[in-house]
Amino acid sequence: SNGAAVHANGAELVPHSPLRQPFVIGVSGGTASGKTTVCDMIIQQLHDHRVVLINQDSFYRGLTAEESARAQDYNFDHPDAFDTEQLLECMGQLKHGLPVNVPIYDFTNHRRCSERFRKVNASDVIILEGILVFHDQRVRNLMDMKIFVDTDADIRLARRIRRDNFERGRSVISVLDQYGRFVKPAFEDFVLPSKKYADVIIPRGGDNHVAVDLIVQHIRTKLGMHDLCKIFPNVYVVQSTFQI
Ligand code: ADP
Ligand code: C5P
Repeated sequence: SNGAAVHANGAELVPHSPLRQPFVIGVSGGTASGKTTVCDMIIQQLHDHRVVLINQDSFYRGLTAEESARAQDYNFDHPDAFDTEQLLECMGQLKHGLPVNVPIYDFTNHRRCSERFRKVNASDVIILEGILVFHDQRVRNLMDMKIFVDTDADIRLARRIRRDNFERGRSVISVLDQYGRFVKPAFEDFVLPSKKYADVIIPRGGDNHVAVDLIVQHIRTKLGMHDLCKIFPNVYVVQSTFQI
């Protein structure tokens, strides 16, 4: 043995140093604002780095049989709909360079696939995306950069109707009903108030190429600084010189 610490799951533990931890980005915004689109654009531009995307949706609690029978009355836009403890555990593991199994959520049946998981490996950049990723302070504290995708509500509703109808097997009437009863009120009560935590607000979502370019440049600067410190460990003290 070379004396390296080993985790219970067999992975070698990386020494705990802030410089070796991945760069964590939070991406929030209302439903169908373009969060996933913006994340995909960032990931595409960072093709030369190891980047993983974690969706808050993966941590929806599975519905009980009774809740499932009345799914139209369930509030999927309230913070309590998510298993935030599990999300924190998962992000904590990734932040320490350990691989994790992320649950797979089925929007059609409002259930987790019990047998299947998505295996996610340690990375240089972790992007956490979801409507309420800025709601819980403990989740916010994991983030090195917070982005809010700001898209007009009418455009979001139009996209939501199209998406839920085609991809999530919902009728137009049910989407409109859910939007008025739960999605819009929860956006106003929980999502919009969390916008104040954002470092960067992107108007027009994925249409805003300038904003995405600026964000990618910033991430590259941070990762470059990180690499420099790995090559020259004694440069630690100079770190603040590189801060934006
Ligand atoms: P979110 O992750 O915030 O729910 P998505 O990026 O998944 O949003 O986008 C929601 C829907 O809107 C998707 O069907 C997507 O194809 C569509 N969409 C996203 N951005 C645009 C855009 N700039 N122009 C047209 N359609 C878009
Ligand atoms: O991708 P997006 O950010 O739109 O995903 C969040 C939305 O998914 C929430 O507004 C919630 O109403 C919806 N949702 C749903 N059915 C589920 C789980 C989430 O309609 N079973």
